[in-house]
Amino acid sequence: MIAARHLLRVFLTLVSLFASHGLSNTIAVNQECVSAVFGIIGGLNFEGVGYGNYYLGLCTNPLKTISVYANSKTYCPPADLEPGFSYFGWACQEYGGAEPISQADLAANLTIEAIKGFPVLDQADSNPLINLTTPILITRDWFDLGFRTEDSWDYEARTHRAYGFAMYGFWGGVILIGTLHRLISVINERRLPPSSTDPEDTGRADSREKSASGTQSNAYSYSRITKHLTIPSALPPFRSQLLFGCTIPTRIESFVILSYWIISFVLCCVNYRPFNGNLYWSAMSPQIWRYVADRTGIIAYANLPILWMFSGRNNIFIWLTGWQFSTFNLFHRHVARVATLQAILHSIGYTAFYFTSGEGATISMSFIVLFSFSWFRRKIYESFLMIHIILSVVVIVALFYHTSIFDGQYDPYLWPLVAIWSFDRFLRIVRVVYCNLHVQLHKKSLNRSIAAISYDQDANIIRVQINTHIKPRPGQHYYLYQPFRLTGWESHPFTLAYWSQSTESQHRGQAGAPATGSTTVGSIAASSKAMEGEYLMSFWIRPQDGWTRHLRDLCLKSSQVPATSKETILLEGPYGMSEPLQKFDEVLLIAGGSGIAAMVPYVLDYISQASNKSSRTRIRGLTLVWSDRNRAFMHQIAQQELAAALTLNEIRYISESTDSISATGSLTIDTGRPDIPTIIERAATAATESGSRLAVMTCGPAGMSDAARDATYRAIRTRNSSIEYFESAFGW
Ligand SMILES: Cc1cc2nc3c(=O)[nH]c(=O)nc-3n(C[C@H](O)[C@H](O)[C@H](O)COP(=O)(O)OP(=O)(O)OC[C@H]3O[C@@H](n4cnc5c(N)ncnc54)[C@H](O)[C@@H]3O)c2cc1C
Ligand SMILES: *[C@@H]1O[C@H](CO)[C@@H](O)[C@H](O)[C@H]1NC(C)=O
Ligand SMILES: *[C@@H]1O[C@H](CO)[C@@H](O)[C@H](O)[C@H]1NC(C)=O
Ligand SMILES: *[C@@H]1O[C@H](CO)[C@@H](O)[C@H](O)[C@H]1NC(C)=O
Ligand SMILES: *[C@@H]1O[C@H](CO)[C@@H](O)[C@H](O)[C@H]1NC(C)=O
Ligand SMILES: *[C@@H]1O[C@H](CO)[C@@H](O)[C@H](O)[C@H]1NC(C)=O
Repeated sequence: MIAARHLLRVFLTLVSLFASHGLSNTIAVNQECVSAVFGIIGGLNFEGVGYGNYYLGLCTNPLKTISVYANSKTYCPPADLEPGFSYFGWACQEYGGAEPISQADLAANLTIEAIKGFPVLDQADSNPLINLTTPILITRDWFDLGFRTEDSWDYEARTHRAYGFAMYGFWGGVILIGTLHRLISVINERRLPPSSTDPEDTGRADSREKSASGTQSNAYSYSRITKHLTIPSALPPFRSQLLFGCTIPTRIESFVILSYWIISFVLCCVNYRPFNGNLYWSAMSPQIWRYVADRTGIIAYANLPILWMFSGRNNIFIWLTGWQFSTFNLFHRHVARVATLQAILHSIGYTAFYFTSGEGATISMSFIVLFSFSWFRRKIYESFLMIHIILSVVVIVALFYHTSIFDGQYDPYLWPLVAIWSFDRFLRIVRVVYCNLHVQLHKKSLNRSIAAISYDQDANIIRVQINTHIKPRPGQHYYLYQPFRLTGWESHPFTLAYWSQSTESQHRGQAGAPATGSTTVGSIAASSKAMEGEYLMSFWIRPQDGWTRHLRDLCLKSSQVPATSKETILLEGPYGMSEPLQKFDEVLLIAGGSGIAAMVPYVLDYISQASNKSSRTRIRGLTLVWSDRNRAFMHQIAQQELAAALTLNEIRYISESTDSISATGSLTIDTGRPDIPTIIERAATAATESGSRLAVMTCGPAGMSDAARDATYRAIRTRNSSIEYFESAFGW
């Protein structure tokens, strides 16, 4: 506990040090004394010029100006006079539009004798109804109160800023650790000894890893320790599935989120310095309200750029850390909740003082957070997104108005929002143009790209095929737009399921017919070599209730069998990263439903690698488990896209009451659910016995992914072998 408090103190001091530099709008400690003096003198009435105008009086009324100089010289440390008077001069210009009468001009009235002659006024004797007619000195007690008032106010101002900056420190640290972790993992992977291709040598990769050298054993322990944090859910088995409508993050994600809430809470609660007799508000409670309101307002502002940064598709932190969009989306939601709570506190605190447009922003933010609970995201995604974006614009505009009274002091928090948003939208446009237009320029004509869409009723799957020059890779996903539609701005993410190189005979006019029936493994391998050629990319889409249903209905309108249609579809991408499956000896792929789309590219990639003597893949065995409610779809994929894979011995299929395909190419499908935990358990046992590195990858319904995550973690915990878990989710 004591250690924690020390740590907190060190952290807060560091943050204050960091923040107090380069902040122009809070005054320096050595300017506080003079500021406290003119704060008191400014509140008194003197006869003559500048009556009723705070700064004009202070700076141009000789009685007042003399009093400011005289009291400062009497009570302030000599070292503080120079910086204090320069701040006085600055304030006169800035707020009064006038140069203060200089000390030199008043030298005769500022001698020690002259000052001694001034009447001394006490706080109790001051009367605003009486005009003072001579320069005055204030009593020591009054000055002390004034100084304490000024000192606490400035202290709070600095602290608010510093704690706002602490948010950047916190998330900067998280991102830094994430980036370092990624670097270390990449370096560790590089150091792995190459897998033996000799079938007699069963590898013992794992034992070699552990014994070969100290660094390798360090690498092994490092990855073991981090897996305990990155793989299991904080409340197993819930990760993709919701628990009481809430997303449950992994352990490390929960740790980050929890720390963020705690730090935010602590920073809103500590280091307030109210005192009885404060010259601004003499009671304690208005001081506390005001400080809390300012603190929460400023931290909420500081949170905004983070909030916007984490929301985009084109987020540089995704590129740095390699974390999935869904992780940042999770952080995005928690930052939003914290910032909204702070905004609410801010508004409550300030209602006692002023009513401003900030209320509008707070109300909008509350509605955004309210509408963002997973129920809305799932039930009415498009409306949710629309409301979200409109309200976000309202928030930005309202906040610009809200803090316009501070002369742009808070704009540095707001412009980044505009910049981050513009950056993301701009990159989206660049990607759309790059993916779709270049194709046409390349062909020296400017036709729009026409996608071939076909819907298979038996398989209940929509296939979309689009030409592009983007090099396809496993693990990519693209956003699809249908621009010439009423809601043409809608974009939906889909995983790149399959591709082939488009040849002369296969131009995009020939839509509909699956261009895949005759595709061989060879052509896949060749396609990755030919950088110049175009690719025909396929997406497999299970119709849901919105745009995907509309696509299905479009096809059904045509009289062709299978139902087809030609539409202008724009691609935006590629997003997502290929998982390094080729670094593992054994790979277990588990797909549910249309989740097979994420697996096929890895399977085909492996086949092309396996037939290449010089390839560096370690994979010695690959197992695919796929279950789907729809047999027709399974048959189709097995006979077309996966046909090549079926003839290879290296690919095994598990007949665990699921799709079972033997190595000779015949296909049998079992009914019932695959027993995911048992399948993983067996794969892990086999891998441990042979000392192989095992990768488990899933893509499917939430329950299936969670079962796989849980089982994989159990295998990792109870065994000494290298097992890694990858998940690609169709939602967030
Ligand atoms: C990275 C990724 C890859 C995906 N790959 C595939 C794939 O290969 N094949 C496939 O069939 N599906 C895939 N999906 C799911 C697919 O994006 C949604 O099913 C589709 O957007 C639903 O559209 P709709 O208007 O018919 O949805 P609705 O019927 O309105 O909603 C159905 C569900 O989809 C979610 N959803 C709707 N729109 C979006 C959107 N723009 N982004 C994210 N979620 C949305 C809703 O929250 C809801 O849970 C993928 C999703 C993600 C995130
Ligand atoms: C104080 O002086 C100002 C201007 O010199 C004058 O307007 C005001 O009435 C005076 N107040 C009193 C109480 O004398
Ligand atoms: C300043 O000092 C001079 C000389 O002693 C005196 O005449 C003048 O009245 C003083 N001014 C004020 C405002 O006290
Ligand atoms: C593309 O445009 C050219 C002429 O601009 C036309 O000849 C060709 O048929 C068009 N192709 C498609 C697929 O529409
Ligand atoms: C085989 O793999 C090597 C190394 O990855 C690569 O350079 C080469 O192009 C591949 N050959 C084929 C035919 O894919
Ligand atoms: C794993 O290895 C450690 C030492 O390296 C050993 O103590 C432990 O018993 C092993 N656990 C299992 C399950 O084999």
